[in-house]
Amino acid sequence: MSYENLKEYVTAHGQEHLLKYWPELSDNEREQLAGEIRKLDLAETNEIFRRANEATKVILEKFDDDLKPIPQTHYESVPGLNEEKIAEYENIGFKEISDGKVGVLLLAGGQATRLGFGHPKGMYDVGLPSHKTLFQIQAERILRVQQMAEERTGKYGNITWYIMTSQHTRGPTAKFFKDHSYFGLNEENIVYFEQGTLPCFDFDGKILLDEKHHIASAPDGNGGLYRALKTQGVLDDIKKRGIHHLHGHSVDNILIKVADPVFIGYCKSKNADCAAKVVQKSSPSEPVGVVCRVNGHYKVVEYSELTDEAAERRNPDGRLTFSAGNICNHYFSSEFLHKIADFERKLKLHIAKKKIPYVENGVRQKPTEPNGIKIEKFIFDVFEFAENFICLEVARDVEFSALKNADAAKKDCPSTARQDILNLHRKYIREAGGVISDDVDVEISPLLSYGGENLRELVNNEVFTISPFHLKSMQESSNGYHNGNH
Ligand code: UD1
Repeated sequence: MSYENLKEYVTAHGQEHLLKYWPELSDNEREQLAGEIRKLDLAETNEIFRRANEATKVILEKFDDDLKPIPQTHYESVPGLNEEKIAEYENIGFKEISDGKVGVLLLAGGQATRLGFGHPKGMYDVGLPSHKTLFQIQAERILRVQQMAEERTGKYGNITWYIMTSQHTRGPTAKFFKDHSYFGLNEENIVYFEQGTLPCFDFDGKILLDEKHHIASAPDGNGGLYRALKTQGVLDDIKKRGIHHLHGHSVDNILIKVADPVFIGYCKSKNADCAAKVVQKSSPSEPVGVVCRVNGHYKVVEYSELTDEAAERRNPDGRLTFSAGNICNHYFSSEFLHKIADFERKLKLHIAKKKIPYVENGVRQKPTEPNGIKIEKFIFDVFEFAENFICLEVARDVEFSALKNADAAKKDCPSTARQDILNLHRKYIREAGGVISDDVDVEISPLLSYGGENLRELVNNEVFTISPFHLKSMQESSNGYHNGNH
């Protein structure tokens, strides 16, 4: 595209300011800027701004009359299920794993801004005795669950790990995995893909320049998953490998049961196309979105969209009526993901007002007040397109502790993540007959135990006194990484 064509193109879409500094740019800088502009479909970009803006203009209606909890027929709770039922689901899940029909979609494109960590969040070490990072813990859970499935069914199957990165996290994530020999996983079963970006706008819809020759942009939110699955060839890969079930979750939940056979088995047995794991809200005012039904459609309703009355409403048994707290832990059938790819352009857009660096009078400014917007898509906005959406409630102390903030916040931070996992491991040890007091910290390697199993022989009647202590698998004690692949 010549300069004239470029100028015509941006002018036709009201974005001519993007070329304001053109005369001052070097050849390389001109090439970069022209490339970035060419990559944008400006008609679609302007439409995205219009749609996102429209969504915020709608007066925040409090959903009330139209709001219903998830019906009993579509909701089960792991703490409320008997052992036979759990074993039934688990066996179905193990069979799917052994048949190679299970994949994991890891959402690892976030920038960890609240945590204040300059690297991908999965590389974070919360200070466990082993100093394992979130990525290593998750990799080892995959290894262990593959092994458990083989023990249960007599057949070995691989889980494919699809890792969604973004422009900032792709390089360091891939390098980290390589530097750590893929934590014992087979490299072929790890597939990185990159989510897209959206330009940042001022409040009037003008695209901001981050530098004279560079457009300000940000990842398109964890709902960018659906477009990326299509554009990056992941849907084809899922088809080629014969994967039927995808467990999608955030990178920051240290207790995540990766590729959970109970969840997979539950979803398969109910023939679900989309599902969410939820935890009970701890109090009416806990600021989490709740999974519910609005006008017959499944949705996550933000805390701010609930009236106080709805937030505080209780069932006769005392439970909150709207208690299904969303924890970014989802199931998708591969068919559903293929279907969504066709209408992901219709997904709701969310606006966040942010302080976005921009160029003024040729100088890069770092604003102290929000000066523009970032637009994001959310992973859960596809629930309403599901034909059979179901929920599985899980115990918070067993399955959910998110790492969001630095320690100063005292909440969802490295200290709470570390404490939550150590508390859970103390519980597992006690359940297996071990003796451990509350001031003794023992970390159980995921290579030894995925969810408290496999411990009785090792810990029954053992009194734990050394703290901190790392209870390892046999292979781990004898060598570096255990390679659980065949
Ligand atoms: C998310 C959920 C929220 C839930 C909470 C529980 C969404 C939109 N919100 O909120 O309902 O209560 O988790 O912990 O799911 N990510 C990307 N690309 C992006 C942005 C985020 O891959 O562009 C990833 C992050 O790396 C992370 C996950 O998505 O793994 C969740 O993102 P985050 O921004 O932390 O969401 P929350 O606001 O905490």
